[in-house]
Amino acid sequence: MVGLLLTENGVMLPPQASSVAPAVDSLFKFIFWISAFFFLLIVGLMLAFVIRFRKRPGHQKAAHPPTHNTLLELTWSGIPLILVMIMGVWGFKVFLDINTPPANAYEVQVTGQKWKWLFTYPNGYVDEVLHVPVDQPVRLVMTSEDVIHSFFVPAFRIKRDVVPGRYTKLWFRATKTGKFQVFCAEYCGTSHSDMLTFVEVHEPGGFERWLEAASNLLNTLPPAEAGRRLYQSRGCSQCHSVDGSGGIGPTFQKLFGHEVVLKGGARTTADENYIRESILEPMAKIVAGFEPVMPTYKGRLKDQEITALVAYIKSLSGEAQPEGGQQGG
Ligand code: CUA
Repeated sequence: MVGLLLTENGVMLPPQASSVAPAVDSLFKFIFWISAFFFLLIVGLMLAFVIRFRKRPGHQKAAHPPTHNTLLELTWSGIPLILVMIMGVWGFKVFLDINTPPANAYEVQVTGQKWKWLFTYPNGYVDEVLHVPVDQPVRLVMTSEDVIHSFFVPAFRIKRDVVPGRYTKLWFRATKTGKFQVFCAEYCGTSHSDMLTFVEVHEPGGFERWLEAASNLLNTLPPAEAGRRLYQSRGCSQCHSVDGSGGIGPTFQKLFGHEVVLKGGARTTADENYIRESILEPMAKIVAGFEPVMPTYKGRLKDQEITALVAYIKSLSGEAQPEGGQQGG
């Protein structure tokens, strides 16, 4: 049992992968073990007294029970006072460290949206995964498109609400390379628990190479392949499958060139214009059997990116059936 609770890093704690993690953990462990000690001491004494001084036949009440004991009272007030003052000062110091980004931090814009994260880099490139260089301070400027989310990276020991209509900020310096889980830590609706992504920490030089390659995707790949990468990196995959399986939105398998039944019974053919309109104005034509939950991508996808996505969806069409109407998902 104890083995389950203890990891390489103490009691049930994730790996330490940021510069502030050791300080947060030390403070946490101090408060945890002080609390555990006093819990056992107080509950133990209470049980001992209950047993020792229980009512028994032949035992008399004391004639003059003690009313107070100055030394005892000063001791049990003074020790906790000193301990909470240590926790307060120590906690404030860690709080300041977490909230004071270095001046030279690399800035990434974060957008929370039901139910995914988008990261915009200084050159305008957008990705669903947060890529950062190791050992360099990174500052996140975060906002939400819809409801309140919360950006939480357990391995970095950082978490902050992401609020519509305002910007919240967070910074960190990753100390280990690798992938670290990101959670949404504020209940935000149906797929809150799927609002997952990760931070990929690159070795020195690797981040710059990744950003360069990722930003040039559209110019170096055939449109359908660029579209496939966008489908994965821009969150389409969160709701739309490409293998005919179900999801929040219609599958992309055998969609292009086929007939789509809309809410209310109208029919239309999924051609280039239909797909483009669905991306830019998702509420204009709701597919029968699906909830109107897709956010607009107007202003978020460039024309070239939409063209690539259309090319990708086209490549999944299979054999076109003019009167088919076989919509999966
Ligand atoms: Cu976003 Cu929970």
